[in-house]
Amino acid sequence: DWTMSAYRQRAVEKIRAQVGSGRVLCALSGGVDSSVAAILIHEAIGDQLTCVFVDHGLMRLNEADEVVSMFRDHYNIPLVHVNAADKFIGALEGEADPETKRKTIGRLFIEVFEEEAARIGGAQFLAQGTLYPDVIESVSFSGGPSVTIKSHHNVGGLPERMNMQLVEPLRELFKDEVRALGRELGLPDRFVGRHPFPGPGLAIRLPGGVTREKLDILRKADAIYLDEIRKAGLYDKIWQAFAVLLPVQTVGVMGDGRTYEFVCALRAVTSVDGMTADFFPYDMNFLGRAATRIINEVRGINRVVYDVTSKPPGTIEWE
Ligand code: XMP
Repeated sequence: DWTMSAYRQRAVEKIRAQVGSGRVLCALSGGVDSSVAAILIHEAIGDQLTCVFVDHGLMRLNEADEVVSMFRDHYNIPLVHVNAADKFIGALEGEADPETKRKTIGRLFIEVFEEEAARIGGAQFLAQGTLYPDVIESVSFSGGPSVTIKSHHNVGGLPERMNMQLVEPLRELFKDEVRALGRELGLPDRFVGRHPFPGPGLAIRLPGGVTREKLDILRKADAIYLDEIRKAGLYDKIWQAFAVLLPVQTVGVMGDGRTYEFVCALRAVTSVDGMTADFFPYDMNFLGRAATRIINEVRGINRVVYDVTSKPPGTIEWE
């Protein structure tokens, strides 16, 4: 019979058979896939697993702390939290080209992870939260003509370089099944049902160079926007919603003074798989409420616009 608890049992046995008494490293991203993979592997082999969370400083408000405390306090899974924000932000400060930003983040991620792996030492296995659609996609695209729209940031390339064997306990699952498995393993609904978040994080929601100041402004606006979405009961109707901070300043008026501050764009789409998407048809009252709160509560933003582009021709992220 095919139930999640039966899958969990079989997966645990498979992991034990593959790993034996070896040691496993897992790169946690804070996303659902790598979290579920790590929790399952920990159930199978306990402290033979070490999780490494490379914190690039490009996460949303409180997100890094939530990941760390969930693993350490709730699951008791040892976690190495590498705070590499200075390194990432420093490298992205003067860089405006979207592809260069993505590649820089990918390269630094591998650098930091390899450094940490060397420090920990002795792991023969690398765990990844690869899903079935990832497996198909990489097969069906090989050989055929392909156009790279965006370089995706993940841990691909790491295993060969580091001469490690892969442990991929989610390879047979689709996203909704991973969510069900996450619930089976005790992950809170709120975590399991989260919108997708890209590996390069907020860096690709800040067209132009990345600075700490811009990251702070974007984090605040994004948190308010998502808070309004949850309050309106819309979170689960939307595939993905987020704020983008534009490198454009416009004139406004506040009290009896002139302001000259940044524009914030709001994005929300419906989608089945992220390959195509439609903009979400909010009612105008909702947009007005979110915009008013952002402008009143976030210093540095004095204008809010809504992105009504579908995919194609737009992509979901702005970079
Ligand atoms: P686009 O912008 O290409 O995004 O329409 C499609 C989906 O992919 C996510 N995305 C990423 N996810 N690493 C990821 O893990 C990445 O580099 C990356 N870039 C985009 C995006 O958030 C959307 O869900």
